[in-house]
Amino acid sequence: MSKQKRRILVTSALPYANGAIHLGHMLEYIQTDIWARFQRAQGHECYFAWADDAHGTPVMLRAQAEGITPDELINRMNEEHQRDFRDFGLSYDNYATTHDDVNRACVELIYERLEEGDHIERRSISQFYDEQKGMFLPDRFIKGTCPKCKTPDQYGDSCESCGSHYSPTDLIEPRSAVSGTAPVMRESEHFFVLLSEFQIRLQNWMTSGLLQPEVVNKMQEWFDDGLRDWDISRDEPYFGFKIPGTDDKYFYVWVDAPIGYMASFKELSARIGLDFDDWWNPDTDTEMYNFVGKDIIYFHTLFWPAMLMGAGFRPPTAVFAHGFLTVDGAKMSKSRGTFIEARTYLNHLNPDYLRYYFCARLGSGLGDIDLNLEDFVFRVNSDMVGKVVNIASRCAGFIHGGSDGRLASELPEPELYQRFVDERELIAEDFEQRNYQSAIRRIMALADEGNRYIDEHKPWQLNKQEGQEDKVQAICTQGINLFRVLMTYLAPVVPFTAETAANFLGQSLDQWSDLDRPMLDVTINKFLPLMTRVDPVKIEAVIADSKENLQAAESPEAPALDLADEITIEDFLKVDLRVAKIIDAKAVPEANKLLQLTLDLGGETRNVFAGIKSAYEPADLVGRHTVMVANLKPRKMRFGVSEGMVLAAGPGGSDLFVLSPDEGAVPGMRVT
Ligand code: 2FM
Ligand code: ZN
Repeated sequence: MSKQKRRILVTSALPYANGAIHLGHMLEYIQTDIWARFQRAQGHECYFAWADDAHGTPVMLRAQAEGITPDELINRMNEEHQRDFRDFGLSYDNYATTHDDVNRACVELIYERLEEGDHIERRSISQFYDEQKGMFLPDRFIKGTCPKCKTPDQYGDSCESCGSHYSPTDLIEPRSAVSGTAPVMRESEHFFVLLSEFQIRLQNWMTSGLLQPEVVNKMQEWFDDGLRDWDISRDEPYFGFKIPGTDDKYFYVWVDAPIGYMASFKELSARIGLDFDDWWNPDTDTEMYNFVGKDIIYFHTLFWPAMLMGAGFRPPTAVFAHGFLTVDGAKMSKSRGTFIEARTYLNHLNPDYLRYYFCARLGSGLGDIDLNLEDFVFRVNSDMVGKVVNIASRCAGFIHGGSDGRLASELPEPELYQRFVDERELIAEDFEQRNYQSAIRRIMALADEGNRYIDEHKPWQLNKQEGQEDKVQAICTQGINLFRVLMTYLAPVVPFTAETAANFLGQSLDQWSDLDRPMLDVTINKFLPLMTRVDPVKIEAVIADSKENLQAAESPEAPALDLADEITIEDFLKVDLRVAKIIDAKAVPEANKLLQLTLDLGGETRNVFAGIKSAYEPADLVGRHTVMVANLKPRKMRFGVSEGMVLAAGPGGSDLFVLSPDEGAVPGMRVT
């Protein structure tokens, strides 16, 4: 395997500094980390640099809600995040924060160069302003009724029910999500990057052949729609970097977040003596890959490369996008206890279990990845414990018992060893292409072969016979060598287990080229338990803890709400609230959020579309009593007419709780 040594920088998306790390984040970080470790195992120079994404309105509001400064919040989060990452075995080389001077300098330099290149234009725009809070409202902090499908309680940028995109001013009855008041329009000067000036360069970059086909398709759609100018400024109050030459304008968080990749690498360069300028020069032969979720492709394939191109830096070699994590086939849910924080997982389970499971499920596309908890137990136990570790544990004892820990000086079946090593190129290609599930299939097929070898040669029987010591030693030397190949392939995936295995073998498993030669005529150490079986009771504990942890916690996106505007008792009495029985419930396939409910109002049935799909299985609702607004004007929706509204509490997503009356209430009763 003589290959040229590549120089590679990888990044994961930077986690926001306003919340804890959960398993959805970990999917991406583990994917990135496996890739970085794999590249290093090929002898390449590969760095993993990232940071916390510290700026923006949600961080500012969360700090306010906690009664601390944003600096205090982001410092605490940075520590917590890094503790989780280290305990999950992430091998990052530098972890920064976007709120530091190195990043500020990079942001200012890029901004300056964009200005010099005439890529920035200032113009006045009107935006929603919350007079009570004294702040302009980001799209996500405005809620109202969707202008297209009329679903209430939608964000200012897009509708979760019908999927349409619009601007906040299109919302019907917009409200500030910060104070609950109706926002007013206010003018302010903003700075725009003229994105369309980069169209040709972005198109050339897109067709470089390294982006995933799904990403190219998305980009093509955006080009077809025409690139819109990008507003890179935000008004006070904002937690971020001030735009040079202004008193009250800040860079939008999505400007300094990706530049945080560069700044983190710059810190690393200073620390270990890398030539930063060479790495970021447009003609460089270094490579840069940004791993991101499919929801932030837009930022990474338009804004980020355009900023770099405009400022005379190299764009990413590729942006690698992945799908979302689901747990047991559904969106992670706080009420079901499947919204699992990294720390909660770590309190009960071995990080290598999850690393292995994610790896076994990850492909190179954008499809969602399901953490099926039953399958998780089965896979880890049967593959890692039952197949891989089993080979070593079946052989180690005999080597120590009969041969004082010494391996034989030759392999009884060198062709079998060679077959294992010959898979190296194919497995490497799978890892390179991020087709991890295929790599794991190949490795496990080899593990099966290794176990068959031991089964056929039965060292435990030979060991009982006189004069067979050499034979037992040879068979077990073969087995230990096969195990060594497997663990070398798996080392990027399960680093903790690999480290224990390396201690047992007395040899590092870091470089795949070391497999060129088998391990012979050396003494190995006492066998240590490498990985124990997953105990399903521990999974139950994770779920129970997650329910407990998160029910009380705030949703990271939802700021503390002030109460809505006052109404009079007369206003309230206009609302006809009735007890209703849910007699049928089904999902609306075309809508992300909606369930179609048939409600019995005591002699009358109503058809109601309720935005509670993410929180309930339809079947669980049938037969329940609830409370509905019975005199709401019927609304025509895409899927039919909705004749009322069911009452539910909670911030949204999986955290929605349909209200129920006490026992004894019957359909049709008025709620007073
Ligand atoms: O979506 C997010 O979680 C962002 N904090 C990701 C930023 S990635 C990069 F641009 F910094
Ligand atoms: Zn809609």
